[in-house]
Amino acid sequence: MTTPLRVAIVGTGGVAGLHVRSLAAIDGVETVAAVDVMPGRAAGFAAEHGIPIALDSLDELLATESIDVVHLCTPPGVHAPQAVAAFAHGAHVVAEKPPALSLSELAQMTNAASAAGRQFAVVFQQRTGTAAGHVKKLLAEGVFGRPLFALCNTLWWRDAEYYSVPWRGRWETEGGGTTLSHGIHQIDLLAYLLGDWRAANAQLWRQDRDVETEDVSTGTILFDSGAVASVSTSVVSARETSSLRIDCERATIEVDHLYGHGRSNWRITPAPSVSAKEAATWEFPEDTSPSGHDALLGAVYASLLSGTPLPDVATEPARALEIVTAFYASARLGSTVSRLELQADESLHGALNAPVTDNR
Ligand SMILES: NC(=O)c1ccc[n+]([C@@H]2O[C@H](COP(=O)([O-])OP(=O)(O)OC[C@H]3O[C@@H](n4cnc5c(N)ncnc54)[C@H](O)[C@@H]3O)[C@@H](O)[C@H]2O)c1
Repeated sequence: MTTPLRVAIVGTGGVAGLHVRSLAAIDGVETVAAVDVMPGRAAGFAAEHGIPIALDSLDELLATESIDVVHLCTPPGVHAPQAVAAFAHGAHVVAEKPPALSLSELAQMTNAASAAGRQFAVVFQQRTGTAAGHVKKLLAEGVFGRPLFALCNTLWWRDAEYYSVPWRGRWETEGGGTTLSHGIHQIDLLAYLLGDWRAANAQLWRQDRDVETEDVSTGTILFDSGAVASVSTSVVSARETSSLRIDCERATIEVDHLYGHGRSNWRITPAPSVSAKEAATWEFPEDTSPSGHDALLGAVYASLLSGTPLPDVATEPARALEIVTAFYASARLGSTVSRLELQADESLHGALNAPVTDNR
């Protein structure tokens, strides 16, 4: 590949704007094409952002142009076929969360990436930011002691207008409810910090919204470390927050934000036994950059441009999807699902559809 890398944005709705703005700040990259099935939408987006090519079909783009990186900003139900087509073209793929609607779709994508020898980056941008990296490093070094208990909350507000977009709120096109679409961000950050999970269970609730899927879920994750996490996800919460709290033997770590975090969103509270002198060494670095698409795409393109492996903020696309899949499978089976069971039983790798208790 020669620079500048030629980038296409596929799906020019809400999140695409974040991608195009982040890309504009990266040297060695040119956004050359915008694609959207909705008539006129790609053309409007292309005109707004000075993108030369606007089309309504990814297949047509790949048949007529040479593209180095395809960004999937489309609804998650089409991520898998679009990624497979992009890898077959010889492009790298940057896919928005959730990367796919099921583990079997995700396997198709990772297999296609391997077969093509191309990189597959996933956008779970909550993993990024200097403060999250600082906490991850200290957790890995063991300075906080063993993680014991965690709270993982995604309490958001999404109303009828949000669900009027045809692909939302339906098993077939959104693949799941608020757990898959929203809670997955904090679940991914929690698992990025705490590592491998061992078992999970959840219940799905429809408390108010007119959706096929769930608008609230309550779940539990047991990590390999022995830490247990209580996970709450909602779209009926007027005071919105996204938060993690991790109680370790020697400290409580917290982040409280909505869609992104910087140093001021994080707090480390030492246990009484920790000296002030030691706690001072846990201070967040002064030079912080916040989490977000800028940080994520900056790191991804530094790798693509230098030909080095992707950074860990953009790899392991299956980690959060596995936990979320275990949540839905648990709601379906009425039992806890272990990671070993999930990995071994391919019947759990398909669509997430599960019974939702309707309390409306
Ligand atoms: N990382 C984040 O913080 C974040 C935030 C919002 C959305 N997302 C994710 O981004 C993706 C898109 O969400 P959105 O809110 O931008 O949705 P959206 O509905 O606003 O935009 C999606 C666009 O894709 C187009 N589209 C649908 N099928 C297509 C196809 N086959 N080919 C080309 N275009 C097609 C639609 O016409 C629409 O314009 C989802 O996976 C969502 O979960 C991530």
